[in-house]
Parts: sequence; C-alpha cells; structure tokens
Amino acid sequence: MKIAVIGSTMMDVVSYVDKVPEAGETRESQGFHIAGGGKGANQAVAAAKLGADVLFVTSVGDDLFGRACRKNYEACGIDTRYVMTAKDMPNGVASIFVEASGQNRIVITKGANNALTPQRLREAEAAIASCGLIVLQLEIPLETVYAAIEMGRAHGIPVLLNPAPAVCDLDIAMACQCDFFVPNETELSVLTGCPTGTEEEIRQAAGLLVEKGLKNVIVTMGGQGSLWLSADGVQKVAASRVKAVDSTGAGDSYIGCFAETWGRTGDIQQAMRRASRYAALSVTHPGTQDSYADREEFAKYLVQNNE
Ligand code: RIB
Repeated sequence: MKIAVIGSTMMDVVSYVDKVPEAGETRESQGFHIAGGGKGANQAVAAAKLGADVLFVTSVGDDLFGRACRKNYEACGIDTRYVMTAKDMPNGVASIFVEASGQNRIVITKGANNALTPQRLREAEAAIASCGLIVLQLEIPLETVYAAIEMGRAHGIPVLLNPAPAVCDLDIAMACQCDFFVPNETELSVLTGCPTGTEEEIRQAAGLLVEKGLKNVIVTMGGQGSLWLSADGVQKVAASRVKAVDSTGAGDSYIGCFAETWGRTGDIQQAMRRASRYAALSVTHPGTQDSYADREEFAKYLVQNNE
C-alpha cells in the first residue's frame, strides 16, 4: 500500500550545546550539523527507509537547501513527482539547539512551506487518490491540511493527523474526520487546555478528545511509551530504555514507522510497538533523518534486543 505524506520540508541547522544561551549571552557549541528535516519530510523518509512506498507532497525552496532536500528524497526512493519548487522562495529552515541531555529547542522559518496551498495540493489529487493512507502534520498552511483531510474522505482513504507543532485553534470537527490523531503530551495539553504532566492527566485529556468524536487518539510520551485511546478503551505500549543523545525528530520517526507498519498489517498495536522501538533507536544517534535506521538495521536492532 502506498502512503501519501503531505507536509513540510525544512533544512535543520543544529548546534549541540551543553546549555542553551540566556538572553544576551553568547555560548560556544560542541558541534554543528546541517541536514534534512521538517516534520513531513522526516515522516516520509522514516517510512521510506523502512521499505514503504511513499508519495511525498511538499514545497521546497528555490535555493541550495531546496535542491539538497529534493536530492535526498530521490536518494531515499520517495516518489517526488509532487515535490514542488516554490519560485523565488527560500527553503524552510529549522534552527535547533540540542542540549547534552538530548533535549532540543527548535525555531522554524516556514519559507516555501507556505506555498503548499490547497490549489497546489489539488495538482497531486490523482496521485494521492491511489494511496492507502494519508499522513499530515501542521507545518504547512492549516487550510491545506483541512483540504487534504477532505480529499482523504472523498476518496475513502484513512488519514493520520499529527497535530505538530501545537496549535490551539485546530478545528476539532475536522480532526474528527481523521482515523488516527497522534499528538505528544505538549500538543495534547495545548489542544485541550488540560494539564498532561502525569499519565493519569494524559488519559483524562485524551479521553476528552475521544468523547468529542476522535476515533483513535495515540499519545506519544517519549521514554514513557505511547497510549492508544478509542471508544473501545485504553491500551499502553511501553518504550525501550535507551540513553538519548538527540531526541530531535523522534516523534516523526514514530509516525513514519507507525504508518509503514499499519499500512502493511492494519494492526494498530503492532504498529505502536514497532514505532516505539524505532523511535527509541533514533534517539541514540545524533541528527534527525540521519538517525533513522533502514529496514535491515532496524531488524538487526530488534533481534539484538530480543524485541
Ligand atoms: O520534529 C522535528 C522537526 O521539527 C525538525 O526536523 C525540524 O525541522 C522541525 O520541523
């Protein structure tokens, strides 16, 4: 089954620091790295590295970064027919600080991602209609996300929405048309206005979304695993214990792996289990897409760890 990822392209500009600077402070970094990022791209690359057939609908800049991102998608075997170049616009850029704990802080400049309008999306409709799953995030215009959800409904294609980065004005009636809604704790808190500091609070906040009509709410909780809530109840999948080096893009690796596994098996629990392991493996390496294992590396990791 082919997966359509409709979303952002960024170039990640990463500094590794022992501590992020205070206002007015200059600090020296311990390392620097530029590589492909963007939540949409990360999810598309993760799924493709795991062997999925991926169509990526995105808008890259008319510059060096945009050309490098396109080349990278081609190298990953992604269907790039709808990787569109936004004339005279710069590529999206994410400025990232990663602290010694592996925690990150990110500022994005959307650039060419703003050019992925509903009109541009419609150019890809016939290709999207041949896919079995649509995967969305929120780094492109919100009206394009809504148009993609409607396109999914019109063609009977299941839709997974990752509401990241967090926005408080997401149309919940639109989100209810999706089959999978996959926030992390922070996004869940922003969306519901509820605290999500403990697992109990996360269950309550996600429960509210299920009451509002969201079908499958899967909350990713980093090292605490992930929770699946639906009208049928709650299921928890634990995470593997690993030493985090860089957590950037871990949530995206979870979604890419979830999409690949669900697309192949239709089994939500199996998809959650594999996605948790895949995300855990990704945080043990620096970088975003660079930290994602391919199918063989991931299979080896699962065998070595008896998983
Ligand atoms: O989710 C991680 C991603 O968020 C980074 O790759 C960065 O590009 C930002 O979009």
